[in-house]
Amino acid sequence: RLETDTYLIEPEDAFVNIPLKEPDLHKYSAGKVLLIAGSRNLPGAAILAAETALRAGAGAVILAVPDSISETVRTKIGSAVVISYNDNGKGFLTEEATSQLEEKICWADTIAIGPGLGRDKDTINAVINILKKNNGKKFVIDADAIFALANSKQYLKNSILTPHLGEFANLIGIAVEDLKVNPIPHAKKFAAKNKCHLVLKGAPTLIFNPAGEVFVNTTGNQGMAKFGTGDVLTGVISSFLAQSGNNEASAISGVYLHSLAADLLAEEKTIYGFTANDLMEKIPYAIKFII
Ligand code: APR
Ligand code: MG
Repeated sequence: RLETDTYLIEPEDAFVNIPLKEPDLHKYSAGKVLLIAGSRNLPGAAILAAETALRAGAGAVILAVPDSISETVRTKIGSAVVISYNDNGKGFLTEEATSQLEEKICWADTIAIGPGLGRDKDTINAVINILKKNNGKKFVIDADAIFALANSKQYLKNSILTPHLGEFANLIGIAVEDLKVNPIPHAKKFAAKNKCHLVLKGAPTLIFNPAGEVFVNTTGNQGMAKFGTGDVLTGVISSFLAQSGNNEASAISGVYLHSLAADLLAEEKTIYGFTANDLMEKIPYAIKFII
């Protein structure tokens, strides 16, 4: 405990907050994740997040992507179900696609949305509509989906947002230089006002809950400053959330283990030599390290 309502995340916290796996588990009771991600030029973000969700224990992962990358995605991940929608050179979340997705949204325990999704106008509107229609469902909102919400923050209840400083500055409409001076009051206010959990990524990553508490991560290293590591975090947190239904536990344990995996990799490969793909593959070993 540092100051009022501020806590350091210890290994024990990560351990007690990992989702339980009972012996009589069934794949559909082991956590169902729907991931809405990817665009023509960014298939990697969708692949990383989906595969990580499986490696962090989710029983069933459905990945919704544009047609233009569906073959690439299918060949890269064998064990997620891939569904795809026409993207004609722009976003794939057309009105038709969004309405077809509704059934999968109802099916899922957790919906992760945003990695590599793109920022065209139709995609922005679709993200807002999906959140509005399913207000209160458990969403993990990242990357371009956070960008989409700059003018529509009213549907975030029960969700977990995972912005880096730049994304959070844009979301609340201030300059990143001003936010950097002291992001904590802004983040506290945001989580309380919108009744969501906010994972503010950085060194260190800080987690804010709606009650005004702050959890400070104690793992991680600068080798994580590399494309795709954030997409892996989205995979871990959404997987844990689908398994446990507990937003705070999933954020705390997910953030700690994601960075612990990076620390294990830094030992093996130095802070220069590991990639987001290595990080994804290391998640099970980070879990093994603390259980
Ligand atoms: N020390 C410790 N951890 C760090 C450091 C550091 N110096 N730098 C970065 N990290 C961690 C963050 O805490 C976070 O968990 O690495 C992760 C980086 O996540 P993102 O910023 O989301 O990075 P990335 O995965 O590349 O994002 C992919 O999202 O922000 C958009 O446009 C961006 O297309 C990109 C996409
Ligand atoms: Mg990111």
